[in-house]
Amino acid sequence: MIIAIDGPSGAGKSTLGKMLAKKLGLLYLDTGAMYRAVALAVKRAGVGFDEIERVAEIAENAKIELVGEPDALKIFLDGDDVSVDIRTLEAAQAASIVSTISEVRRIMVEHQRAIGLAAPKGCVLEGRDIGSVVFPNADIKFFLTAKPEARAKRRHTEDQLKGRLTTYEQTLAEINERDQRDVSREDSPLTIAEDAVVIDTSELDLTEVFDQILAKISEHRTAAG
Ligand code: DC
Repeated sequence: MIIAIDGPSGAGKSTLGKMLAKKLGLLYLDTGAMYRAVALAVKRAGVGFDEIERVAEIAENAKIELVGEPDALKIFLDGDDVSVDIRTLEAAQAASIVSTISEVRRIMVEHQRAIGLAAPKGCVLEGRDIGSVVFPNADIKFFLTAKPEARAKRRHTEDQLKGRLTTYEQTLAEINERDQRDVSREDSPLTIAEDAVVIDTSELDLTEVFDQILAKISEHRTAAG
């Protein structure tokens, strides 16, 4: 079974994707972490994001591994644990820039398909283009969204818990900038696949969204026999 979860940053994709993978015993694939790892590899190599051929070469050669259970997932780049380094604001912006490069997307999509198809019981993939490009035939597609203010509020609370010194206004500006780039890029922009189940999480808590997701999956399973 392949489950696609797409949507803008801060809509709850990661938390819900992990909960879902755990509940159903599926592999969880955080595709954003892969773009973040590529961006970090580019930065570490001292290469500019505008040097497209070199960036593509780095994406092709980088060994990106996602290891462990969904709620203790670790990301390795060429054998180095980068789980913390890829979660900075800079890494998020850099990932958003690197992900506009078609060659990088082609390489990532290929990896993502291979990982999803190799998972014995199936996979929950979370990102921006899962239902539209990576697995257009996914068994079920969710598009999670929320008002920018609600997403910024959640992100800001998370950041504060992690001890990051950012203001709500900075977080909102960062989210708006990244959203704008992710929806307006030429290759595979963030879009709602026409057969996706859209859930606006602005006014809902996690349990309510999770219950809606589980209900949809069970409906789908009944319909599929
Ligand atoms: O989900 P995230 O915030 O970790 O993703 C970081 C960036 O990577 C995001 O701004 C856009 C890009 N991305 C993408 O283009 N396609 C995906 N499937 C996942 C992420």
